[in-house]
Amino acid sequence: MTLFVIGKPIKHSLSPLIHNYWIKKYQLGLEYKKMEVEKESLFSLVENLREGKITGLNITLPYKRDIISYLDKVSHTAKDIGAINTVFIRGNKVYGENTDGIGFTRALEKKTKFNFSNKSIYILGAGGASYGIISELIGKKVAKIYVTNRTKQKTIQLIKHFKTKNKEIKLEFVEWKDLAPNSDVDLIINTTSFGMKDNECIKINMNNLRDTLIFVDIIYSPKETELLKLFKKEGFVCMNGLNMLIEQAAVSFELWFNISLNNKDIEEVKNICEASY
Ligand code: ATR
Repeated sequence: MTLFVIGKPIKHSLSPLIHNYWIKKYQLGLEYKKMEVEKESLFSLVENLREGKITGLNITLPYKRDIISYLDKVSHTAKDIGAINTVFIRGNKVYGENTDGIGFTRALEKKTKFNFSNKSIYILGAGGASYGIISELIGKKVAKIYVTNRTKQKTIQLIKHFKTKNKEIKLEFVEWKDLAPNSDVDLIINTTSFGMKDNECIKINMNNLRDTLIFVDIIYSPKETELLKLFKKEGFVCMNGLNMLIEQAAVSFELWFNISLNNKDIEEVKNICEASY
């Protein structure tokens, strides 16, 4: 039996490395493969899962939204975000979940003991990853979220999306120029794909930042984006996207196999991933 991560392109996915390590460790006798697919294949893949020919699926770009229409049930979180990254079977129904947001918060809590409650968070980007993280942050009762994005309209859309569900949420629009977070900000997160290419860097004025600020770039390749290097150079605690990638994978693994992975499982896989690129 097999599990797949599907997307297009899919060549660079680290998910097979991560899941096959745990599958072997827990002697599950399965294989996790990557598969580049066209949109037209989504229906038959879900049917294969329903018929027991596939054990589980991870969905990545560009199909995180498209897959929803083929599923029987979608979790509250996934509905909130409008995107799915994990598909699994319960009884005879096909379920969709999104584990990206929880992957992010778990990774940061474990690495830095960060407590999200009442904190102010500054987010760069208003794409799919940003929605996933913001949904989780709202659940963690943060005090305030600043959002900025290159395309202004997408920031406005994102704020409207979350405010429609809950008017009390403090989401503040920030212009994508002259970025200068204030001293009330506890955490800055780059959710944009900016920085995946060498020598790219967003300009952020760091003058007002408090010493205890934490910076996270959800990119894991390169291991250190130019932006992350800048924050590190200024002495701030930083985290790249590898911990998040592994934590979201661990939540998917638990949904498929009902096995709760421990910190040792996470650390072992992290070392393997780090050595692989
Ligand atoms: P994901 O699901 O990974 O968030 P996405 O939905 O395509 O992917 O979103 C990509 C994000 O990266 C967006 O916020 C995008 O900004 P735009 O909405 O303006 O496109 C951001 N992004 C990508 N390339 C960028 C660049 N060169 N400069 C600034 N932002 C960039």
